[in-house]
Amino acid sequence: MSLSNRCLKGLKVENGPMELNLIYFGNPYHEENNQQGYIRLSCADNHLCKDILLEKFRSINWLNFNDEEIVKYTVPGGQYSTRKVFADLMNEFMLSDIRYPIKPEEILVISGATMICDLLSHVLFDEGEIMLAHSPFYHRFLNDFIDRGLIDIVSIPTMFEDSIKAELKVELYEKAFQKAVSEGKTVRAILIVNPRNPDGGYWSLTELKPIIN
Ligand SMILES: Cc1ncc(COP(=O)(O)O)c(C=O)c1O
Repeated sequence: MSLSNRCLKGLKVENGPMELNLIYFGNPYHEENNQQGYIRLSCADNHLCKDILLEKFRSINWLNFNDEEIVKYTVPGGQYSTRKVFADLMNEFMLSDIRYPIKPEEILVISGATMICDLLSHVLFDEGEIMLAHSPFYHRFLNDFIDRGLIDIVSIPTMFEDSIKAELKVELYEKAFQKAVSEGKTVRAILIVNPRNPDGGYWSLTELKPIIN
């Protein structure tokens, strides 16, 4: 059986350091047991809050959970209690001066940013439409939005020879937008990652406002 055009197109999208990951998993370094193994530099696992997460995880009495629930379908979009935790978190720490606080019922819980990107590529874009993304960006965006969503990502450079600081230039967004329009294409969205991956810096409100406007 032959593969679909969608799949053949997706297979042409660069796949970042996936091959390196496979080499690593074949022979991972271990301080005592495998000092000749590979060290993985292509992936940034988040160890910063490991102690807090593990402490919380280990403090939970799992016997209090109704494990019957694990084998059943649950409320679409996440349990109300879970959505409320997210809404409260956003209202308190991220949007404390928002006029209309986010309500739990407006939230949809999805497991992981990768899945969210894939979902967005389907619900916001039609095939061949464009998303502008400040570059360099997280390498998997190509796969997450293009493999199945079949959109196009146009990179907007933010690193320039005469500066050591990443910079958002509204005129480059404008230029990319006009170019797409002149080619008869639709720019559907602008992707902003803040704080940034890969360099860990962040955009200030003053830098973001002109782009958003
Ligand atoms: C900007 C960005 N988006 C998405 C992801 C992937 O997130 P997840 O593991 O939740 O799919 C990462 C992981 O590093 C990331 O840096």
